[in-house]
Amino acid sequence: MTNEQMLEKISQIKVVPVVVFNSIEEVLPKMTALVKGGLPCAEITFRTECAAEAIKLAANNFPEALIGAGTVINRNQCEQAIVAGAKFIVSPGFSAEVADCCAEHGMLYLPGIVTPTEAMAAIAKGLTTLKFFPASNYGGVKTIKAICSAFPYIKIMPTGGISAENIMEYLAYDKIIACGGSWMMKGTPEEIEQKTRQVVELVNGK
Ligand code: 3PG
Repeated sequence: MTNEQMLEKISQIKVVPVVVFNSIEEVLPKMTALVKGGLPCAEITFRTECAAEAIKLAANNFPEALIGAGTVINRNQCEQAIVAGAKFIVSPGFSAEVADCCAEHGMLYLPGIVTPTEAMAAIAKGLTTLKFFPASNYGGVKTIKAICSAFPYIKIMPTGGISAENIMEYLAYDKIIACGGSWMMKGTPEEIEQKTRQVVELVNGK
């Protein structure tokens, strides 16, 4: 799959679950809940020791799913994520070394930005689909619209403070390809599946 096709898939799914695995035992039950709920996608964050192992397990068991790595802040993590089978890389901010590593591997990279200066740093590396994080703290859709007016060719994936209550406000803006969030990941696998199904129905207008 090309990076363009990957972005197209993300924009069809519309929701990217941001997942923190505290132990490897959580991976299969929670990933199964997401897939059963209708979201075969996860941004597995490098906030815990088992991130790379979790990506590998998820990628091996759900080959059709879009398994990416999140909170990737340096080349070392980026390489670990790629070796583990991540299909895309996300950072909370912009990292030139992660951008270079992804470019070398032909890997899709969505760096985080909140300011025009950060957007310019990403654009200078040829990156035009950007994570806006933490979205609600930095003015949500209003700020995203102001930034996109200066850079009309960029697309945004906001994350941070998004939930079933406000996701439709974000998705109503056509520069927003999808929203990231962790709200559906709280609770038991049954609860995750239920919250996932609810948001899938919501974003698909059911
Ligand atoms: C992220 O890294 O994208 C955020 O931690 C997700 O934010 P949320 O927990 O507010 O959804």
